[in-house]
Amino acid sequence: MNVLVVGSGGREHAIVKSLLKSPGLDKLYCAPGNAGIALDCERVDIGAMEFDALADFAAGHDIGLTVVGMDDPLIGGIVDVFEARGLKIFGPRKNAAILEGSKAFSKELMEKYDIPTGKFKVFDNREEALSYLGQSSFPVVVKADGPALGKGVIICNDKDEAEGAVSTIMEERKFGSSGDRIVIEEFLTGPEVSVLTFTDGETIRVMSSSQDYKRAYTGNKGPNTGGMGNYSPVPFFDEKTEKWCMDHIFMPTVRAMSAEGRPFSGVIFFGLIMTKSGPKVLEYNARFGDPETQVILPRMKNDLLEVFLACAEGRLSDVELEFSDKAAVCVILSSSGYPLSYEKGFRIDGLDRAAEQEDTFVFHAGTGLKDGEIVTNGGRVLGVTALGADIREAREKAYKGASLIDFSGKYMRQDIASDIIREISWDTE
Ligand code: GLY
Repeated sequence: MNVLVVGSGGREHAIVKSLLKSPGLDKLYCAPGNAGIALDCERVDIGAMEFDALADFAAGHDIGLTVVGMDDPLIGGIVDVFEARGLKIFGPRKNAAILEGSKAFSKELMEKYDIPTGKFKVFDNREEALSYLGQSSFPVVVKADGPALGKGVIICNDKDEAEGAVSTIMEERKFGSSGDRIVIEEFLTGPEVSVLTFTDGETIRVMSSSQDYKRAYTGNKGPNTGGMGNYSPVPFFDEKTEKWCMDHIFMPTVRAMSAEGRPFSGVIFFGLIMTKSGPKVLEYNARFGDPETQVILPRMKNDLLEVFLACAEGRLSDVELEFSDKAAVCVILSSSGYPLSYEKGFRIDGLDRAAEQEDTFVFHAGTGLKDGEIVTNGGRVLGVTALGADIREAREKAYKGASLIDFSGKYMRQDIASDIIREISWDTE
């Protein structure tokens, strides 16, 4: 079967590398891809939001399955465009991708179906939001309703900060129409864990857990990013916790979406926080995480193409997922200055040396080609993932691989997976 992957980051490179192992794969394409993806499959020069052009390409190249990695095309309805043309595609329709596309929708869904999450209120009127802040206790979290490149979530320690956040989103309209509504939410504390799942709308299968380091600089300092590294599995997300989440969070979410007439097929990424009163949902994403995918897929033993097809064809109940006992650690190499401002276009050396290391994978994110050489072309440039017998060994190998790569302005956090919490306890009844 010919397969088209849509996206251009480390997540899509990890998907491409896993699909290449599938016995059922004939030809693999990726649109728009990046310089590293182009070494592994045929890169197609069509943007991820050009739905009609992508569908034309799929129809013209006998594509048996299109796999969408990125959030924007899913939220924008790429799946509906493909389905209307009879083209098979992996991912949620627009009416289900709203689970990520609208924070107000997802919070109201959780409230309606009794899925544990922080207390919240939704506002589409600035004056009402400000008046509510007059009676709130702090900190609170102020969130733009729509997608805002991960920047629309503002933690506010006092009333002044919260009023500033409301004005930034609703008055200055920093995130455009994504700020037409806001959610003001209770600030929850506890360790966070990312859980990726496959679902076909009825059955849900849990991939392994991972934990992401979101702040830009070593020591959890600096601005939030898309993720500077991560590890898998998470020691405190044990079997008992997973079972509890299955009964109270994962399955109830899938059932809730179906009950709302929005059956969800694809990946649901549960962003969880382990509070003292039990696991709660911080956010949903309607797609694979990045860099979560870069530690999860290298540990997955299944034929990924088969799992995608089982989701798209509504037969996920036939599939059991299997993961290696090995641990994985991913270290992101970024351009100095990310996520604020940074330069691009620097030659990258040492890519082959790093990839030749045992159990080491180099996933390209912000890379491009200039005069036949691979150069930096984004904030998060590369993800270096390594597998090891345990997190400590995986960490050593990932940092070894990362140290072999060089480019002007290279930056990486030094503390990925260095502070892992082994056990925590909470009261979930
Ligand atoms: N790493 C967080 C995300 O993919 O949204």
